Amino acid sequence: MVETAVFDTKPYDRDYLAHAPGAEHVAWRFHEFRLSAETAPAAKGAQAVCVFVNDQADRACLEILAALGVKLIALRCAGFNNVDMPAAKSLGLAVVRVPAYSPHAVAEHAVALLHTLNRKIHRAFNRVRELNFSLSGLVGFDLHGKTIGIVGTGKIGRIAAQIFRGFVCEVLAHDPFPVLDWAATHGVRYVDLDALLAASDVISLHVPLLPETRQLLSGQTLARMKPGVFIVNTSRGKLIDTGALIAALKTGYVGGVALDVYEEEEGIFFEDLSGQVLQDDELSLLLNFPNVLITAHQAFLTREALSEIARVTTANILQLETGGPFLAGTTL
Ligand code: NAI
Repeated sequence: MVETAVFDTKPYDRDYLAHAPGAEHVAWRFHEFRLSAETAPAAKGAQAVCVFVNDQADRACLEILAALGVKLIALRCAGFNNVDMPAAKSLGLAVVRVPAYSPHAVAEHAVALLHTLNRKIHRAFNRVRELNFSLSGLVGFDLHGKTIGIVGTGKIGRIAAQIFRGFVCEVLAHDPFPVLDWAATHGVRYVDLDALLAASDVISLHVPLLPETRQLLSGQTLARMKPGVFIVNTSRGKLIDTGALIAALKTGYVGGVALDVYEEEEGIFFEDLSGQVLQDDELSLLLNFPNVLITAHQAFLTREALSEIARVTTANILQLETGGPFLAGTTL
């Protein structure tokens, strides 16, 4: 049995990990609290530690884990910006992640958000439940024939582009590493960012957060978009300057915004704060616009993605017992 301390767990994490293939050979110790230098002692006796996006595996934390005899940090996500990798290497801690679990889950959520926002399904749902069957204020637009700008044509962006082609949209794409044969096959046209911003009725972001993509959508880039543009962000909150976005929403220049991620989501998303006063003024403002739709970083949350995350994470943890290699492509 491999003793494993799992931090920042929700009921769905526990359920999927406990039922993954081989999970019976892991002694799971599920914690609801996050990993940090303060909580690291809870890993005492564990050989592996399993963490998510908001756990803080900084040097101080990793030193405690290494001293406790932990051998492996298994991230049950793709991003690893919350792990001090040089520190992990110097302490001899192996770090693994799940590089791709379901690009379909995220691309489909981006399209679902756009449909909901455009056709005002969320407002209609509430109205009808109160026996208000009026249609006033629920006018949307046909996606058919519209121009969709896909920024970033990696695993998720390419699937989103193909879905939009299914709605007979014109799809423009921008990526420093264009995939030309894929674009030719699917009738997608690569253009530079300015051309994409100027021509798109809907812009969907599918780029990672890098120094050069931070605030990719700023006051300047927003001003280069078509008036009435709809923006979808399922990638990372810090790709958008929230203050500039709010200003563009107030003037009506931006027609609609669908977000699964938010610039300052840490400590807010994934938590039930329904009994508290929200301290984030920009998020409060965003939540008050009728043409803004927000989900709390749930684009990945499908049965398929959770199964894959649990399968890969469990398989890697079990390698500690057999001494075998971690799954291909998962080692950092
Ligand atoms: P990927 O690595 O397959 O593709 C990213 C693409 O962005 C690459 O083709 C890259 O060349 C391109 N890119 C980099 N810099 C760019 C720039 N300045 N302009 C245009 N394109 C640029 O990544 P994948 O798997 O498609 O994920 C995309 C994003 O989705 C990631 O940032 C990830 O954080 C986010 N994500 C969100 C989830 C959620 O639940 N909301 C779940 C999983 C991923």
